[in-house]
Amino acid sequence: MTEQTRIVREVKLLGYNSGKLKAEHFAVVETAGAEPGPGQVLVRNRWFRVSISTRLMAEAGTEDVKGIPFPPLNPGDTLADGAIGEVVRAGPGAGLSVGSVVMHPLGWRDYAVVPAEQCRLIDSPVVDPAAWLGHGWTAYAALVKAIQVRPGDTAFVTSGAGAIGSMAGQIARLLGATRVIGTTSNQEKARWMQAELGYDAVVTRDGGSVREQLAKVAPDGIDVIVDMVGGEQLAAALEIARHGARCVLLGAVSAELNPHNATLKALVELDTFQLILRGVTMRGFSADEEAPEMFDAWIRQLADWQREGGIRTTHTMVKGLDQAPLALQEACAGHLKSLVLVELE
Ligand SMILES: NC(=O)c1ccc[n+]([C@@H]2O[C@H](COP(=O)([O-])OP(=O)(O)OC[C@H]3O[C@@H](n4cnc5c(N)ncnc54)[C@H](OP(=O)(O)O)[C@@H]3O)[C@@H](O)[C@H]2O)c1
Repeated sequence: MTEQTRIVREVKLLGYNSGKLKAEHFAVVETAGAEPGPGQVLVRNRWFRVSISTRLMAEAGTEDVKGIPFPPLNPGDTLADGAIGEVVRAGPGAGLSVGSVVMHPLGWRDYAVVPAEQCRLIDSPVVDPAAWLGHGWTAYAALVKAIQVRPGDTAFVTSGAGAIGSMAGQIARLLGATRVIGTTSNQEKARWMQAELGYDAVVTRDGGSVREQLAKVAPDGIDVIVDMVGGEQLAAALEIARHGARCVLLGAVSAELNPHNATLKALVELDTFQLILRGVTMRGFSADEEAPEMFDAWIRQLADWQREGGIRTTHTMVKGLDQAPLALQEACAGHLKSLVLVELE
């Protein structure tokens, strides 16, 4: 096949309103590939990330929520997410040479025409896709820029086996926390979190009252909360937050992924009087919006920690574009662990 007749395979949203997101809401379609214009490159994708936030992007009414940091997806749109691939064609003035490996935002397709300014050159002989596409930097930025971890802290990470959480627990410990507690859905994931991610204790949604479990594993309270869940888990953590505790809010999957009543409102009842008395800091934080400059620092820090053997970039790798919609369905249903990546042929 010549470059002119290249067929591009990409995943499109067929339609979705709310509730359980399923693979049949998406289709892999073939289209005629475009050529890169001035300032653009054609990239042959090798890996891309599957994020549960795609569910939110596809939800009817998302566009009405002011400040949502990603563009809504409408039926017929091609999905997009972080990807890594090789430049196979460069348009005039693109400034990237054929053969360069780049990270860019146009995954969910095998070939992408990308503005060169949206490409980040990966100048390394060996590429670890989980390091570049993972959410370690979100967790790192949250724990370094949004709040601080102090030596001796007890840290609590909700959705601690998830894409952000699987890194946040490890990073909190590397930054000084001496006790790290996470949450997950079930015992199997809890065992994996303790064995692979080094959590000291894990509270499970199938293990009864979160408050009671937390009181047992954090009898002296909590200093640092990294919250991806909201709801009951956030409330329980804040109830036992110690004086001067710091809490960073990154997501609200208990509302976002609620299989019965998914909602963009993440309501929770808090005793704010107690938060005042104990001087608790709470901060909502978006790494993309508030700390894009920290990405390079994170890649350097990760390399140092990896050299010292102190951190693991765990991920679930799925092979082939055809499997990507099912991977998204399974990630939203909580059946997968940590970062989810798709590897293309
Ligand atoms: N602020 C930022 O900079 C930023 C950046 C990226 C993403 N985010 C947001 O951060 C949140 C986490 O993102 P992520 O990609 O790391 O997702 P994630 O934690 O990997 O989310 C999937 C996991 O959520 C858990 N889950 C599913 N339904 C749940 C429910 N009803 N209640 C509690 N937990 C449930 C499941 O884990 P278990 O089975 O282990 O419970 C599932 O595996 C999302 O809201 C995302 O939009 C924020």
